[in-house]
Amino acid sequence: MAPEKLKHLIAATLVITFLYYSLHLYLSLPVKGIPVANGVQKGKKVWQQNNCTACHQIYGLGGYLGPDLTNSYTLRGPAYIKAFLQTGTEVMPNFHLNEQEIDALLAYLQNIDASGKADPRTFTINTNGTIEQ
Ligand code: HEC
Repeated sequence: MAPEKLKHLIAATLVITFLYYSLHLYLSLPVKGIPVANGVQKGKKVWQQNNCTACHQIYGLGGYLGPDLTNSYTLRGPAYIKAFLQTGTEVMPNFHLNEQEIDALLAYLQNIDASGKADPRTFTINTNGTIEQ
């Protein structure tokens, strides 16, 4: 085969393989549908209004002054989080949230806890490059 033709054949094979693999990855995204309750939406709003993300990460994204809160619901438990929010500490401000706002935040953190993990050491990397938690 002429070298020019061979080049085209290799390029075409690579492009087709790339397209096939991209489509395959796109169609098999490991997205899990988790139903979102009303309180969770409200909790997200409280989270955003008080800019908790300035100091805290969720799924590893956010500020680094405070700890990642993705799995704080199981790691610390609702009673601990509630007490923490009601009092604040020397480094974490007390936001003077009311009972409903704290309950909504707890629902939000519980939902996040159920939807993923923050610690990359617990992740499994598959041979096709995707990650499982
Ligand atoms: C100014 C930065 C800042 C903001 C804003 C902030 N936090 Fe914190 N938070 C911290 C720091 C720092 C700690 C660790 C404090 C400590 O251990 O004394 C902390 C700790 C916590 C903890 C305990 C985590 C653990 O594992 O011990 C929870 C829960 C928490 N924050 C929730 C929130 C929520 C919800 C908001 C928004 C309403 C918020 N934080 C906003 C700085 C902040």
